[in-house]
Amino acid sequence: MNSRVLGFLLSTFLSGICCAQAPAFAWDDGTVPYVVTPMEIVERMLRMGEVGKGDYVIDLGSGDGRIVIEAAKRGARGMGVDIDPALVAMANENAGRAGVQDRAKFVVRDIFETDLSPASVVTMYLLPDFNRKLMPRLLALRPGTRIVSHDYPLNGWLPEKQEQFDLEEKVAISGVTTTLIYVYLVPAKVSGIWRATMPPAISRDPITLNLRQQITRISGTARIDGKELSVHESNIRGERISFSLAGVKGEFTGLVKGNRIEGTLDGSAPWSATLGG
Ligand SMILES: C[S@@+](CC[C@H](N)C(=O)[O-])C[C@H]1O[C@@H](n2cnc3c(N)ncnc32)[C@H](O)[C@@H]1O
Repeated sequence: MNSRVLGFLLSTFLSGICCAQAPAFAWDDGTVPYVVTPMEIVERMLRMGEVGKGDYVIDLGSGDGRIVIEAAKRGARGMGVDIDPALVAMANENAGRAGVQDRAKFVVRDIFETDLSPASVVTMYLLPDFNRKLMPRLLALRPGTRIVSHDYPLNGWLPEKQEQFDLEEKVAISGVTTTLIYVYLVPAKVSGIWRATMPPAISRDPITLNLRQQITRISGTARIDGKELSVHESNIRGERISFSLAGVKGEFTGLVKGNRIEGTLDGSAPWSATLGG
């Protein structure tokens, strides 16, 4: 089936999209057709993902290579994978024409057999079922890795940024002008029991923090002087954690580095924690 036909089928299936919800979807044969991301959206995806020098971008299902090529023009390096060898050949030719072939490589590979660990940014224009299957692998990436998705969200994961706008060019692609871009930050992993040293005003003895993580949110308790205080208003953005404790004035913020957190209460009084105590 050629790309024009696939584009038409996709537009037929997507023609009911009207709003910022994950669209109801009828494409269920487990494939993602080749449909390009218009250049204006590529620009916005790279801007929202803050892609620049020092980044390594992996585009999952890279088509004609435009996302990685544009990232390379901004000084990033990257790789695109696609199952279609003709598209991979075209993408490598396009990289050569743009003079970025040393920084933008394309290989024939299944998305699900691709090592994503070198990425500082992952980009994708895939379908909801693919996003759902990819989510555990994306969540396992280095904290702070940015995931930029065109049109389809990663359900259950609160985006760091989200933009919705209209673009006439999208009518030929998805049947509607509505376009969505989501940016997610891979959160640090904090579930577990931590031994924490708090500012003296809270406790002079080490305390126990028992944390449970729901992607970018945490719940749990702090055991201080025999009392259990619940964790509130939590957020994990990459390596940055913030939360408050019921009955304790102020906000705890910190940086999670593996099994260690170091931070401050209200930006001044230091606190720290070690996983497992
Ligand atoms: C919607 S297009 C997006 C192309 C490009 N990323 C862009 O945004 O312009 C999806 C691409 O994913 C590729 N694809 C579909 N399933 C794949 C798989 N399992 N592994 C690798 N690529 C796949 C298709 O060949 C197609 O080029």
